[in-house]
Amino acid sequence: MEELAYVEGEFVPLKEARVSVTDRGFVFADGVYEVIAVYHGRAFRLDEHLARLAASANAIHLLLPVDHGQLENIIKTGLGQSGFQEAQVYLQATRGAAPRSHAFPSEVKSNLVVTFRPLHPVSDEIRKKGVAVITTEEIRWNRCDIKSIALLPNVLAKQKAIEEDAFEAIWVTTEGIVYEGAASNLFMVRDGEVCTPPKSGKILSGITREVVLQCARDLALPVSETPLRIEEVLKADEVFLTSTTMEVLGVVKMDGRAVGEGMVGPITLQLNEALRKEIGR
Ligand code: PDD
Repeated sequence: MEELAYVEGEFVPLKEARVSVTDRGFVFADGVYEVIAVYHGRAFRLDEHLARLAASANAIHLLLPVDHGQLENIIKTGLGQSGFQEAQVYLQATRGAAPRSHAFPSEVKSNLVVTFRPLHPVSDEIRKKGVAVITTEEIRWNRCDIKSIALLPNVLAKQKAIEEDAFEAIWVTTEGIVYEGAASNLFMVRDGEVCTPPKSGKILSGITREVVLQCARDLALPVSETPLRIEEVLKADEVFLTSTTMEVLGVVKMDGRAVGEGMVGPITLQLNEALRKEIGR
């Protein structure tokens, strides 16, 4: 088994993969990305990820160099060549290599890179115990629905969380509105109702968020997608995060205070199980 990259139309060992220092992804973070989990050799919710990549590319007026079918083929071939059954596929499309100038270059081909690496799921121990999070002031732009590679605020927030012995940072505005995590969507459970902020330019419309909302509906749990305030989240019975790599991950501490009973809650466990079932299908 080998970590691989698809770059300049070829598969090469990841260590040997190179792009130009003039690539606009490197110079301006002018690009978009996706992270896809592969279980038992199959990419989970591939169509949804590829549709979101196309939507992100479209939103920044970037013409992808390949279509949906070609992307599927690249992923299938890469998985086959790497030999990984459980993998993390990272796709990144940038506006290509060009002399540095802010406006779009006129003659440039966008650059697609795909990497194939082993999946590193959250350990069973962490999943059982739940995680601590911190809140941090929302400083991002108003198009967080675009899966942009410009992630400096997210990088700084995650680092702050790690330095404070927490797993994730949660964006909260100065007015007390809660949006999502640095790399995850946020849910809370109140009196049996599963609540998450609505889709907007302030959150990424997570693929896992969507699957979990569907699981909740299938379990006949009441669901609400309305704005959340930090006071409500701090008083919630349960809080959990969702993402491709975290799946459903219980939050047991927020800014040093216990959430609910200070343990991963029953609805969090139920939804994690339901998501695992979807993955297994
Ligand atoms: N991040 N919100 C943000 C800001 C994210 O970066 C992510 C995922 C999500 C969850 O989306 P999904 O369920 O589609 O993975 C929400 C990926 C995993 C990352 O940047 O590594």
